[in-house]
Amino acid sequence: MKVLVTGGAGYIGSHAVRELLDSGHQVVVLDNLSKGHEEAIDKRAAFVLASTEDVDLIVNKIKLHGIEAVMHFAADIEVGESVTDPFKYYQNNFSNAVSLLEALNICGVKKFVFSSTAAVYGNPERTPILESDLRNPINPYGRSKMMVEMALEDACKAYGMGYTILRYFNVAGASPDATIGEDHQPESHLIPKILMAAREGTAVKIFGTDYPTSDGTCVRDYVHVMDLARAHVLALENLSPGKGEVFNLGSESGFSVREVISACERVTGRKITVEEGPRRAGDPATLVASSKKIREQLGWERKYPDMETIVAHAWNWHTSHPEGYVKETEKSHFILTEMASEEYRMAETYRYFGE
Ligand code: UFG
Repeated sequence: MKVLVTGGAGYIGSHAVRELLDSGHQVVVLDNLSKGHEEAIDKRAAFVLASTEDVDLIVNKIKLHGIEAVMHFAADIEVGESVTDPFKYYQNNFSNAVSLLEALNICGVKKFVFSSTAAVYGNPERTPILESDLRNPINPYGRSKMMVEMALEDACKAYGMGYTILRYFNVAGASPDATIGEDHQPESHLIPKILMAAREGTAVKIFGTDYPTSDGTCVRDYVHVMDLARAHVLALENLSPGKGEVFNLGSESGFSVREVISACERVTGRKITVEEGPRRAGDPATLVASSKKIREQLGWERKYPDMETIVAHAWNWHTSHPEGYVKETEKSHFILTEMASEEYRMAETYRYFGE
């Protein structure tokens, strides 16, 4: 299939692009590089430097490349920032997603895989969480994602849009060959922060030790990014126009913050200094998903289920890329093919290698 991947230069998007290409699909990445990295884009993919808000440009690219399906990763992801700057989230995550859907609708593209989040559940009613459980987000980030879910439900009824919503829990790890991995600026996620502390001999802060969990720290459900990427390809290949599906992507087992720190100590062979701090606003005590539905319906199986493998792959990535992605400007083989109007301040580039 010819697939447009928005946010294909980001952490999860870049791993999904690789999995798509390895599965025989053709990929066009669309990314504005506001958070993503040019170096993370697989060299087998075409690349359009643009945002999802520009309906005309996207219509143009869909037609030009004969796009048949879209995977939509591009979004802002910081819960805390969404509380202080909610319009940024409603604009980028919701409004721009609607623009993208409008472009798809104009072109008759009816296959859409959407990156949603456990944050749509808010403080869950029970553990493990089922897809049918109540959506009750407690921050603008979760609400912006839930609003896209609702727009998809309506687009399915009104226009026959086919969609699969994938609700992520905690995604971690890196490609096993350590060529692509996690590089957020600034980094807020637990595993990269622990590994940074291990590398630099600094302390990692635990946000809250008085939660109602076995050791007082928050419990989360960690999934290897390559397993998550595989789930996207399965979702795409099983999508039908006019039908909507939703799947949780969790592991059904939770790890506390202290347990994750211990796993990092075992993998790195280093003692990690810990500082106990107050709770971080907006953190539910426990988030663990049931992934029975995707296992039964799509045959999803995790290749890297254990925490130590997830951490080992992340550690290989971080130690081989201590500064994250390094700009490859001089080595770049981009050929500028088209400049968009000044108004949009964007350029379209395609990669041709060896030229
Ligand atoms: N934590 C610490 N210290 C740190 C960083 C995190 O103790 O330095 C704790 C957090 O408080 C939380 C756990 O580690 O209890 C995991 O935190 P992350 O920031 O790694 O991940 P979250 O569970 O907060 O967030 C993840 C995704 C979000 C998504 C959310 C949905 O990264 O994008 O799940 O619930 F919104």
